[in-house]
Amino acid sequence: MATIAVVGTGYVGLAAGACLAELGHRVSCSDVDGDKVRLLRAGKVDIIEPGLGELVRSGLANGRLRFLTTPTVTDADFVFLCVPTPMAADGGADLSAVTSVMRQIGDQLPPGCVVVNKSTVPVGTATMLSESLNGRVPVVSNPEFLREGSAVHDFLHPDRIVVGSDDLTAARRVAELYAALPAPVLVTSTASAELIKYAANSFLAVKLSYANAIAELCERLGADVADVVKGVGQDHRIGESFLRAGPGWGGSCLPKDTSALLRTASAAGQHFSLLEAAIATNVRQHSRVVAKIRGALGGELRGARICLLGLAFKAGTNDMRDSPALAVAATLAAEGAELTGYDPVVTADVPGLRVVDDPYEAVKDAGVIVLLTEWPEFRGLEWTAIRALAAGDVVVDARNHLDPTVVTAAGMRWWGIGCSRGV
Ligand code: UGA
Repeated sequence: MATIAVVGTGYVGLAAGACLAELGHRVSCSDVDGDKVRLLRAGKVDIIEPGLGELVRSGLANGRLRFLTTPTVTDADFVFLCVPTPMAADGGADLSAVTSVMRQIGDQLPPGCVVVNKSTVPVGTATMLSESLNGRVPVVSNPEFLREGSAVHDFLHPDRIVVGSDDLTAARRVAELYAALPAPVLVTSTASAELIKYAANSFLAVKLSYANAIAELCERLGADVADVVKGVGQDHRIGESFLRAGPGWGGSCLPKDTSALLRTASAAGQHFSLLEAAIATNVRQHSRVVAKIRGALGGELRGARICLLGLAFKAGTNDMRDSPALAVAATLAAEGAELTGYDPVVTADVPGLRVVDDPYEAVKDAGVIVLLTEWPEFRGLEWTAIRALAAGDVVVDARNHLDPTVVTAAGMRWWGIGCSRGV
């Protein structure tokens, strides 16, 4: 059993802390947000993550997990850095949280301790951190691949554990923390480990943009993207996951990580045109959704009433960061449309958009209804009631989530993505 200090209690830090405690380690998690720490001490988790609340409460009850407002590292065998690295103004990664934590704890790190970086950081950061510590303690890169909405499951059932270090003993010690998990461990240099994280997220983004570009081609050629990606994905070399066409990829990771990798490549003298095209295809996808909405309204957005169903960047989370719904809403609002939105978990106000707490309220008098997040409950909506409440009769289903036969049986028209209906 190791003593671990986790700095940062976002999705990654909190899931890592709670799961490491579950694996038997003694974990203290710290966060600068005092309100969050107070909630966590009371066993309350303010993000939607199945199983996380239970793990936090059991860790508090068995004494293996505690929450602090300042990192306590003097007795730590390992210090996990799990702080945000948002997109900086120049498109790269903003490392200020990482460097500020290191300034705060650097002098207190005990000999024999290992700094484990889980934050997504550009290649060279581990080396930079190690230099800032004058090599006193090893710095290991241990990227995290969990998804929001399935953080606990993904942490406890990883496809692989990547440990990057120039110090083999430190790498082995970090790998040992996960010994109970049946996953292959890949030991690499710190540079390779840091790049693996960006390369993985960017690959997912490229795959998604490829599917969205094929969806556009399906519309032009009269094919159906659902069938096309199924037939493509059944080739085991390609795989069926991450091929669902949609309104574009979003969230707190893929947009910032693709942008940061593009900058890293450029700084290294490489024009990464494939990745650049994937990003441009994503922006184009937002515009394609707007074009469908415009088409459903007969060409005029000004003064039109539009209902957006789903605001989160994907189902299963209340995270709105870089949600495609925000990009679509911003364009519609800028063109003078009146927007009403409903999301099962997002209730906060969105600029240019009135958020209501009932889907039937949201569709009232709407000239067009647009589905942007694949929440399961949208499949159970009463479309006959919606037909009576709405002013228009088109549903733009930007996730191909609804059953078109159900929607059309209620007298509405269903327009999907990547199929001949709604081109
Ligand atoms: C992503 C990666 O999947 C994780 O492996 C990684 O650890 C994480 O970023 C991170 O860097 O922390 P996440 O941001 O939670 O996870 O979201 P994803 O599930 O990857 O979805 C990203 C976007 O792609 C969403 O907007 C989603 O709706 C979209 N998507 C996903 C599709 O449009 N179609 C698909 O088939 C799959």
